[in-house]
Order: sequence, then structure tokens, then C-alpha cells
Amino acid sequence: MKIFIDSADILEIKQAYEWGVADGVTTNPSLIKMAVEKRVGAGEKISISSYLKEILKVASGTPVSIEVTEKTGEGMVEEGKKLFKMFNSVAENVNIKIPVNPALEDADSTHFDGIKAVKELSNSDIPVNCTLVFTPEQALLAAKAGAAFVSPFAGRIDDYIRKQNNIEFGKSDYFPQDGFEKDGLLLEDNGIVSGIDLVAQCVEILENYDLEAEVIAASLRNTRQVREAALVGAHIATIPFTVIADMLKHYKTFEGMKAFIADIVPDYANLE
Ligand code: E4P
Repeated sequence: MKIFIDSADILEIKQAYEWGVADGVTTNPSLIKMAVEKRVGAGEKISISSYLKEILKVASGTPVSIEVTEKTGEGMVEEGKKLFKMFNSVAENVNIKIPVNPALEDADSTHFDGIKAVKELSNSDIPVNCTLVFTPEQALLAAKAGAAFVSPFAGRIDDYIRKQNNIEFGKSDYFPQDGFEKDGLLLEDNGIVSGIDLVAQCVEILENYDLEAEVIAASLRNTRQVREAALVGAHIATIPFTVIADMLKHYKTFEGMKAFIADIVPDYANLE
């Protein structure tokens, strides 16, 4: 499984690449806001354009997602082309993030411009990461429309199932892959019992039909979810830096290290 870092924080991105574990980067408007506010808060003057270029250089040779801000089909295509033109020349690694469905007023509206933008940009040889995917059906349509990547949001589906059922939770709380029972009933959202179940169903459907899009397990909140994404065959997991760091930790590693260090005899430490 490839690992993308889900961050717009340049220091986190550099660190993940220095560790040799990053195969790409995903950003979104919220991550960019957070990263820029952090640097401005530290007294730096910053232009988002030069900041994005810095990210693209660090990630050179691996894909970086930049999300559009427009909501109409025409607007998203125009902006996607503009972003690609502005930034792809830096390191030839830009893909454009397009929401599968950009409706803002009503989830059931007939505003379906996302999928049209996926098709148009893909047809213009601009790789698309189709984002905000919450059903395997959305993933199937995005892949058919030509998306290079589809991003099911595992953590947010877990949040949704818990909220719908009045279950309190913390953002990084583990949600069982096989689902959560309440009052003897298995909770679900139209046949999806967990975020990892959503990822697994997306992978299975795309692979059943040899569709080329890669599934990015997104919105991952803890290390166990990353493990489960790998076990269900996600092609990519995009992971926040804190979770990547947590993946390196275990109490017995720490304890074992202390014991080994205590046992180093001088002759061994000064081999000649
Ligand atoms: C990545 O492409 C997504 O934008 C990101 O994983 C969303 O994560 P969140 O649900 O933790 O905000």
C-alpha cells in the first residue's frame, strides 16, 4: 500500500519524505488554512502560491492533490486547468481534487457538476482525485468518468454512523471495521457498516471491473484504521502526520530499547 501524507504542513511533509515513507501528498482547503495560519501565527508572511510550490518540490516524483474552490462544473474545470498550468510545471506531480458532488444547499439536489468536471479534466490529461466519496456507487461513477484516484472518507463515515445513533466519540476513537452494535442492532449507512467497510467495497468494485482508478483510503484517524485499510487492499492510504508518527510507536519497543541500552558493555560500545 502506498502512503500519502494528508497534510499541508511543510515541516510534516518534509519529515515524512525524510523518513522515506511518503509516496504522495493530499491537501484540502481546511489543511491549507491550518498550515498557513500556523505560519502566519509564527510571524511569517506567506503566499499560498509559493507555499504550494514548496510542497510540490519536496514531493517531487510523487503525486500531490490540490483541491478546487469553485462549485460549478465550468468553474471547476476552468480552475482545475488553471491550477494544473500554474503548478504542474514545478515538479510535474499535480493532480486536481474534485468533489464527486459539489451540492451545497441540499444533499438530494440535482447539482451533479462534480462528475462532469472529473470527466472533462481527465479527458484533458489532467489527473483527478475525486474526493468526498461516501458510497461505493460514487466511487464507481468517478472511476468510470476517468478519475485517477477516488477518495472514500473512512473516518467521516464512522463519525456519521455514530452521530446518527447518538453515540459520543472522540475524533481519533477506533471504530470497528465489522461495525458497531447498539441495542442488538448493527449500525450502518445504507449497507456500509464502517469507514473501512466503505474502503473495502470501493476496492472490490473497482477491481471486479479492472477500472484503473486507485482507491485512496482517506480521513483516517488512527493506526488501526491504517492497518485495516492495508488489509482490505486499499491502493493508497492518506494519513495525517500524527498518525504516521503513532504507527512507529509501541510500549514494548520503548521498553526493549531501554533494556538493550542498559546492557551495552563498554567493549561492545567501543568495538575496534
Ligand atoms: C484527504 O484527501 C481528505 O481531504 C482528508 O483525509 C479528510 O480528513 P478528515 O475527515 O480527517 O478531515
